[in-house]
Amino acid sequence: MIGIICAMDVELEKILAMMEKEQGDIISGIVYHRGTIGGKEAVCVVCGVGKVFAAMCTQTMILKYAPDCIINVGVAGALDKRLNITDIVVADDLVQHDMDVTPLGVPRGMILGTDYIAFPTEKKVSDLLYAAVDTLNKDRAQKGEKKLGIYRGRIASGDQFIAAKEQKEDIAGAFGAVACEMEGAAIAQVCYVNHIPYAVMRAISDTADESSETDFPEFAKEAADYTAEVIRHFFEA
Ligand code: ADE
Repeated sequence: MIGIICAMDVELEKILAMMEKEQGDIISGIVYHRGTIGGKEAVCVVCGVGKVFAAMCTQTMILKYAPDCIINVGVAGALDKRLNITDIVVADDLVQHDMDVTPLGVPRGMILGTDYIAFPTEKKVSDLLYAAVDTLNKDRAQKGEKKLGIYRGRIASGDQFIAAKEQKEDIAGAFGAVACEMEGAAIAQVCYVNHIPYAVMRAISDTADESSETDFPEFAKEAADYTAEVIRHFFEA
């Protein structure tokens, strides 16, 4: 059983359309879609935006469906200059950029109780996602379509939509993160304490600066649709 968590409808839409024998359970106002993708069991959900919804949904998914692994899929803002809109990022690890107990002498981003600043993802699942992007790119090249850029690195999550150069540079500088979003590290923390393997894959929808206000609404759907294509190849593999 593979769990897929997205924050927004636009991020799950195309994945949900691939699901067969779909049945839904509603728990705490969140719909958990159970069924199969490419013949494999899956549970897919739109958790809502931000770390609290993401954590709540991850814990419920683990207790109710006991998934073998959880994948967080969606869009992100680029922090690293090399990243362009629609490029794919597979996370090596995730930090919560808004966790700050520094006045008490704790390093920035440290999650007390875990002693982690960055939660590492499951390498095997991340490798499979990376390979699925490669497969998609081979398909695209055959059709004469442009290949998607693919990166691995750290993703930073926080309860803020980042849309200012100064803020973006602060997060990138403090944590060495390549992309930012609002759920991945919360999902990582819940999976970590429950010993559930997890991975995070995001497509870039904006560059987390003053252009994000217009880029995000323009590119979020296109970027999210690419991640759905990757998920299709992941399940096939
Ligand atoms: N998700 C997509 N773009 C984002 C941004 N700029 N900040 C936070 N989350 C995002």
